[in-house]
Amino acid sequence: MGWADFQGSTHLVELETEALKYSKEPTTGPVAGLIRKIEAGKVKLEWDAKRGWLPSFQKAVGVDTASQTLVFSKTSLQREHIHPGNPRAIFFSDDVYLGYIPGSPLMEVSEVDPRLGGVFYVVEQKPTDKPVIQRVDNCLECHASSRTMGVPGHLFRSVETDRLGIMDLTTGIEPVDHRTPLSDRWGGWYVTGTHGAAQHRGNRMGDDFVQAKSNPSIGGNKTRLDEFFDPSKYPAPGSDIAALMVLGHQVHVHNFIARVHYMAAQHLAAYGHVDYLKSPVEGLVKQLLLSEEVALEHPIRGNPEFVRMFEASGPRDRNGRSLRQLDMQQRLFKHPCSFLIHSEAFRQLPGPLKQKVYRRMAEVLSGADTSDAFKQLSAGDRQSVREILSDTLEDLPPDWKDLIRPKG
Ligand code: HEC
Repeated sequence: MGWADFQGSTHLVELETEALKYSKEPTTGPVAGLIRKIEAGKVKLEWDAKRGWLPSFQKAVGVDTASQTLVFSKTSLQREHIHPGNPRAIFFSDDVYLGYIPGSPLMEVSEVDPRLGGVFYVVEQKPTDKPVIQRVDNCLECHASSRTMGVPGHLFRSVETDRLGIMDLTTGIEPVDHRTPLSDRWGGWYVTGTHGAAQHRGNRMGDDFVQAKSNPSIGGNKTRLDEFFDPSKYPAPGSDIAALMVLGHQVHVHNFIARVHYMAAQHLAAYGHVDYLKSPVEGLVKQLLLSEEVALEHPIRGNPEFVRMFEASGPRDRNGRSLRQLDMQQRLFKHPCSFLIHSEAFRQLPGPLKQKVYRRMAEVLSGADTSDAFKQLSAGDRQSVREILSDTLEDLPPDWKDLIRPKG
């Protein structure tokens, strides 16, 4: 299963070093900010009779309902509450993920801390004056492993399950990101949206997987989920295919950035430079430029509300172009560079490391690099990405203009 990002990329990193101590550092993400504001009496969350703290919490940290995706495999913490009739909803923004299961006592939250990677919290679903939001580190049992690139991070996988949502251990577990063929994605998840004759493993359970061998359209092109459960239990009716595609991409890139951050902090402390991190830098550049993305064979149509919401934010260049514009015809993004290059996590990568990333990106975007790894980037793609980056990033190398001058 899977593929190597770079040699050793799944080994656990040391989380408690002089350079960076996971359990001791104060966190600076949006959830940490919300906790401080609640304590200072500056923000008050409202309890909702139907969904507890979810709606008010979503609003406070800016996580839109249109990002809703639904997972029914019993692969996470509160497995007794999760099954195909009561899936777990995951909502996300660029730096917060929320897990909500109707009827369960805990809402699960992860945030992307710019230096620590994933930081985890639970919110007790109890009507009190203010919510108890507690940081919990034992989530790392699953959330810091070879499946999260060995750093505290996020998970997104595809598995086969029976009709109760129990994972079939004899079949593989696939990581799901932009490199995963569609036909291997989304086992254990619901998927709403259309995708022509393309196939995926969503909406399948039990003997559906056997039947799919002769009837490959099983579970595909669903626009409603009421045959499986009562969607009115959730804030949104579906598990949007476009949201799922963005989620898979961003989970992997978040983990990658966190991994490289830990390594850079340790190398800077030990050697004063990051010159030995050549292959992690190369790996990160490949992810940022989606160099190993699998091409879509059929156009994908998700919920226009998600697309609108997702495309609305983020910086634009002088021609109105943005890295958040979705393509969904042949690939995920219109301009093949991750929008997470504008995230706080990327912005706060140690300077010397980030400069190496920019320099390597410039080699590719200028056309000086002609290696196979980036061959799917057309001359037009390279041009639009270098123009968007030039207009929207403030900390590019001083000689960036020379570096990206078209070559070859
Ligand atoms: C038994 C392993 C396991 C444990 C323990 C666990 N999780 Fe997860 N978590 C998963 C898996 C697997 C996923 C991917 C989605 C799925 O399968 O439900 C996930 C996904 C999530 C997500 C969605 C995005 C992300 O960050 O990956 C959140 C939020 C989350 N978990 C929070 C928590 C919190 C908070 C805790 C601790 C209180 C926790 N988890 C403990 C396995 C676990």
